[in-house]
Amino acid sequence: MEEKKVLFSGMQPSGKPTLGNYLGAFKNWSSLQEEYNCIYCIVDLHAITVRQEPAMLRKYTKELLALYLATGLDSDKNTIYIQSNVTAHAELSWILNCYSYMGELSRMTQFKDKSQKQGNNIPTGLFNYPVLQAADILLYQTSVVPVGEDQRQHLELCRDIAIRFNNIYGDVFTVPEMYIPKIGAKVMGLQNPTKKMSKSDADNENNVIYLLDDLKVIYNKIKRSVTDSDNQIIYSDDKPGIKNLLNIYCGITKKTIEQAESDFKGMGYGAFKEAVAEVVVEEIKPIQARFNEILADKIFLENVIKDGAKKAEYMANKTLRKVKKKIGFIS
Ligand code: TRP
Repeated sequence: MEEKKVLFSGMQPSGKPTLGNYLGAFKNWSSLQEEYNCIYCIVDLHAITVRQEPAMLRKYTKELLALYLATGLDSDKNTIYIQSNVTAHAELSWILNCYSYMGELSRMTQFKDKSQKQGNNIPTGLFNYPVLQAADILLYQTSVVPVGEDQRQHLELCRDIAIRFNNIYGDVFTVPEMYIPKIGAKVMGLQNPTKKMSKSDADNENNVIYLLDDLKVIYNKIKRSVTDSDNQIIYSDDKPGIKNLLNIYCGITKKTIEQAESDFKGMGYGAFKEAVAEVVVEEIKPIQARFNEILADKIFLENVIKDGAKKAEYMANKTLRKVKKKIGFIS
């Protein structure tokens, strides 16, 4: 039997996960677990590139793990683990820093955006963030990385580093491909539908649907979402609010945009929003129930954390040993 290809992705435990995270990541992730050898990481080392409150970091990490599981990731089929539990990430990251250039890292738009918010003291970790991300991916000989469009530049950099390293030392790393899911890859804000729905958007609660929001709150946020005034349910760039709701609807129901447009033909915005709110609430309800069950089962969670770290460590150390040997380190 041919071995399954390795798929790797990760998310930062740096806030409350949103509907955007669900449709852009979790829901796709669980549909990939048969086809690939999937590795899903909680990237807490990335989270500390901006200051985190220890108690909150702990809470968000546990919650994110429970959400990975509650949205359908199977901890037996996949490797699910916490990044800081596998020391190989920090180690390979250091090594790859010596094969990355100031110039290429300075061009990363995410660094430019995030560093602007840091005043005069920009943590160097923020600058090196994409190198750590490259280490994550390359440690596991990853073929496929499902991420949102905003991660394209980081993935290109990861490929460049891998190719550069391979050119010096021979085939050490698999050069990964980016995988962008078709529908629902990008959920926009409900109040500002021209900007991505983000878990770090704490200024406007109504803009963001958190997966752990009360179901009534979720319903009302959708009902209050910003649309336009021509009352036509058509998928168009001129109608970002309606377009976003159609994307959400189709992301959940797996209907095509054309099907959805015809389902809602002639319907007013009020009824349309109710229909969207209904499917969102029905989708999230069982996830919340499972989430609460999982979070309450401390022993189960501890075991998932331990087993995941063990599985990940085994794979990661294999690559790390090879890298160190190629470089000329003595063991
Ligand atoms: N930078 C990614 C994000 O913000 C998270 C991430 C860290 C990641 N390491 C990764 C994603 C490796 C994919 C693969 O979304």
